[in-house]
Amino acid sequence: MTYYKLLFLIFFSFLTGFSQKSQQAILIEQRVDSLLSQMTVSEKVGQLVLYSGSWDVTGPPSDLGNQKKLDNIKKGKVGAMLNVTSVAGAKKLQKAVLDHSRLKIPLLFGYDLIHGFKTIFPIPLAETASWDLEAIQNSAGITAREATASGINWAFGPMVDISRDARWGRVMEGAGEDPFLGSKVAVARVQGFQGKDLSDPHTLAACVKHFAAYGFAEAGRDYNTVSIGAYELFNTVLPPFKAAVDAGVASVMSAFNELDGIPTSAHKELLTGILKEKWNWDGFIVSDWGSIVELILHGYAKDQKEAAYRAINAGNDMDMEGRVYEKHLETLITENKVAIQLLDDAVKRILRVKFKLGLFDDPYRYLNEKREQSEIYTQENLEAAEDMALKSIVLLQNKNNILPISKKVTSIAVIGPLAADKDTPLGNWRGKAEKESAISLLEGIQEILPKSTKISYAKGVHLGLGERSFTNELTLNRTDDNGIEEAVALAKNAEIVVLVIGEEAFQSGEGRSQVSIELTNPQKKLFEAVQKVNKNLVVVLMNGRPLAIPDVAEKAPAILEAWHLGSRSGNAIARILFGAYNPSGKLPVSFPRHIGQVPLYYNTKSTGRPANAQGMVFWSHYTDERNAPLFPFGHGLCYTSFTYSNFKISKETFSKKEKITASVKLTNTGKVAGKEVVQLYIQDLFGSLTRPIKELKGFELVTLNPGESKIVSFIIDEKLLQFYTANKKWEAEPGDFKVYIGGSSYTDLVQKFRLTDL
Ligand code: BGC
Repeated sequence: MTYYKLLFLIFFSFLTGFSQKSQQAILIEQRVDSLLSQMTVSEKVGQLVLYSGSWDVTGPPSDLGNQKKLDNIKKGKVGAMLNVTSVAGAKKLQKAVLDHSRLKIPLLFGYDLIHGFKTIFPIPLAETASWDLEAIQNSAGITAREATASGINWAFGPMVDISRDARWGRVMEGAGEDPFLGSKVAVARVQGFQGKDLSDPHTLAACVKHFAAYGFAEAGRDYNTVSIGAYELFNTVLPPFKAAVDAGVASVMSAFNELDGIPTSAHKELLTGILKEKWNWDGFIVSDWGSIVELILHGYAKDQKEAAYRAINAGNDMDMEGRVYEKHLETLITENKVAIQLLDDAVKRILRVKFKLGLFDDPYRYLNEKREQSEIYTQENLEAAEDMALKSIVLLQNKNNILPISKKVTSIAVIGPLAADKDTPLGNWRGKAEKESAISLLEGIQEILPKSTKISYAKGVHLGLGERSFTNELTLNRTDDNGIEEAVALAKNAEIVVLVIGEEAFQSGEGRSQVSIELTNPQKKLFEAVQKVNKNLVVVLMNGRPLAIPDVAEKAPAILEAWHLGSRSGNAIARILFGAYNPSGKLPVSFPRHIGQVPLYYNTKSTGRPANAQGMVFWSHYTDERNAPLFPFGHGLCYTSFTYSNFKISKETFSKKEKITASVKLTNTGKVAGKEVVQLYIQDLFGSLTRPIKELKGFELVTLNPGESKIVSFIIDEKLLQFYTANKKWEAEPGDFKVYIGGSSYTDLVQKFRLTDL
């Protein structure tokens, strides 16, 4: 930008009353341009290089040692680091840049902030079950405060991949199966990380990932091929990314997968066409770990040079641990194979974020030892994690109101491989958490019950065997059922049994796909044996993905879904078991009856043969299992009961210029105060493309005292009815719709309306 152009823009901004923010943006542009004009090609390439400190590794490490990395940092050949997680470590590297490099461009320090830094919050799938956007934003805000106190200024999160496949281990990292809920949660997390002002040292730059369609890996196998079409891409996959972009997310991470023949890390239409051009977004794109060099293994580039060429041409701005930009970009520029404008654009995008973070004003802004000592893992943060855990728990089943358990209970048997486990609740992406630092459920129960209560404990069976680590394969116990007898003896003599089963922390997460989503055989045996001797049985599930547990659902009167809930897991679960907190979570994913139903999701299409045809086989079904899930999306019970009545819409026919209201009266008909997530679903009956049988379009959290009622209303307008149509644009098509309101996606409270053009 020339000096005169800048003056004009500033003058114009005063005249038109531009906000302070826009003026700041103009000044940043000017500073970016001025710096860029001083940079050599080699320095420009340096900004596109992201190294991992080899201390904490979250992917296969590159062949470069720490000393060589440090040398390159000093030469200004590195723009960002990941996995450097202490103020001292980050300071050393930032100082190396400032003391030795010519232009002293500060480093970004990135880290995976998935569900906490040191204070661990529930896994993202669990947090989503709260449907509580404020709480989710708060959780991300606390994580940002802890991480920035440790020198981090860039979060690799939120992960916003929609997925409908419980086999895929990374469902634990996302917001579940629904794009509407997923979009709201994406925005809450971005706002939690980035706050109102990126230059505030308690906030950091967010990075939504993985762009795009990574959650649709064939057969649920991580990193696998994706071949969905435009309908699914635009209507299901992209909405959370678009919402994050609209919320001002600073960066986006490309994905490992290919999409219909093109690896997404070199997908020009996705990265440049949609993200940068159509969405007019000015942040930067970072590859996933090594995903540019992996173009070779995909069979999309014959060597590293071609991989660099393809990725930069597609619009991928930064190379994470792939080392192909640092090796080949300069040559590609010299050979005129890559236009310098392309390199400049990438550099500008990265510098822009560094300026916004305030790093040029003070490169040590995030490097404060005092904060590191006082702002991490505080009592206050742990309490917030407990509060989030309470909100994330879902009561799946409660026959005969066996829950809550009276605190007057005289004897209780706490059984199961996860009952005393202090590590599993920390989940998979546990940041800097200390091993074994979670409160186990056994500890939580011991804390909440009077000392006089007889609490007995038996593990029953082992679940994981040997090493538990982020990087290595976990071995599961599939045969040894030695402890069952002891557990049964305790169960027999207790007034009530709490059986804690499910999945280890490292059963879900990256690289942890499974063909089975059932309990391990020893756990199944344990369950069968225990339920035979004591029908007063509460099953607490800990897991990072939906589980297929039809037998448990048939035989256990109560099931509490407790995911991997973080540092204060045991306290939160115990408070719910004993009625100190009324559960309010609702499932953000469908729970299948059988793995064979996967992918399973509520917002499915009708097909041409949706219903049983006169007793014949010619309809879309399985001959050996029902179509329905075991527990549907949006399902969750509580200790009171709610009734829905007076469901009304304000007008049955309305035009695209108007809006209508759908309202319902919600009454707490039970005996205790409770919170309900009131859900609005819409079905577009006919379209230029076939439409799902129901789509979530709104929700509200309502807390009511016993006997209290509230009218809950939702506005329906043209915008809410839009989808990516056969015209290849977002629009609402005139026609007939059904609208549903209720406490889960299985609600049948329905009204109809018609949308007209005029
Ligand atoms: C994951 C990303 C993560 C990156 C850096 C990759 O393996 O797919 O989600 O941000 O590693 O740790």
